[in-house]
Amino acid sequence: MEAVTIRDEDFKKFQEYFYRRTGISFDPGKRYFVDKRLVDRIEATNSGNFRNYFMMLRLQGSNEEMQHLTNAMTVNETYFLREDFQFQCLVDSILPEIVARKTDTSPIRIWSIPSSSGEEPYSIAMYLLEKWACLLQWDVEIISSDIDTGILRKARMGRYSPRSVQNVPAAWLTRYFKAIDGEYQICDDLREAVEFTKVNLAEPADTRPYRDFDVIFCRNLLIYFDDVSRKAAAETFYDAMRPGSFLCLGHSESMSRISSLFQVRRFADAIVYQKQLEAR
Ligand SMILES: C[S@@+](CC[C@H](N)C(=O)[O-])C[C@H]1O[C@@H](n2cnc3c(N)ncnc32)[C@H](O)[C@@H]1O
Repeated sequence: MEAVTIRDEDFKKFQEYFYRRTGISFDPGKRYFVDKRLVDRIEATNSGNFRNYFMMLRLQGSNEEMQHLTNAMTVNETYFLREDFQFQCLVDSILPEIVARKTDTSPIRIWSIPSSSGEEPYSIAMYLLEKWACLLQWDVEIISSDIDTGILRKARMGRYSPRSVQNVPAAWLTRYFKAIDGEYQICDDLREAVEFTKVNLAEPADTRPYRDFDVIFCRNLLIYFDDVSRKAAAETFYDAMRPGSFLCLGHSESMSRISSLFQVRRFADAIVYQKQLEAR
């Protein structure tokens, strides 16, 4: 059988299609990464060549192959307490502002997107338990979403490698994890504290039901988007946020250049973005 190859024009077609579907923009520098995964999927589906595969990908009503391909193309790198100065900012500055303004006892809603394998939303839950003295007085909902259904399964399972938990203090490891076969299983209380859902941030039909958040963490996703999909993401977040709520991005990501929808807030621990109190 002839080896499957991806030609320049195939790459270009795929790049445009995948961008339209996911917001992820692969530049030609990512050629090796993309080609390898495309060839793997062409072989796994016995499509024989790119042309057949690409036709099936676009025409398949169930979207099943698009999901397999998306799962293969995503970069899921993450770990517990990554950039934890933002979690400190959450408990020291953001939540106190939110509760000071609250006029009812409805839950405080936090959206962590993308979740990847769950380290980020579980870190948020641990920070609240360990460091936010007011937790007992408030209901907090943590919803966490990702486009990758394989990584969401892993997140719900909550089993982690030693590398993933290496920044977790020993006392927290003992309190929130059980060591099993050289890995770390997160406890059921934390698993139940986070609801994981499949959401494509670039798909309005997926994001439409997500509303009334007080805090959104969107860290290390916009680096894979271009300016057009970043701007669309900013608008999606704006619609999903309550007036006065906060948006936290990854340390190398910024909203200021992309969108003027948010105000920059400089707290002691972190710079975050805020939707104005009076909605436009
Ligand atoms: C590098 S991880 C970031 C995880 C975590 N937020 C962190 O900062 O450690 C990027 C994640 O973005 C997800 N992703 C990529 N495109 C997405 C999209 N359009 N909608 C939702 N999630 C997406 C990937 O599946 C991957 O799990």
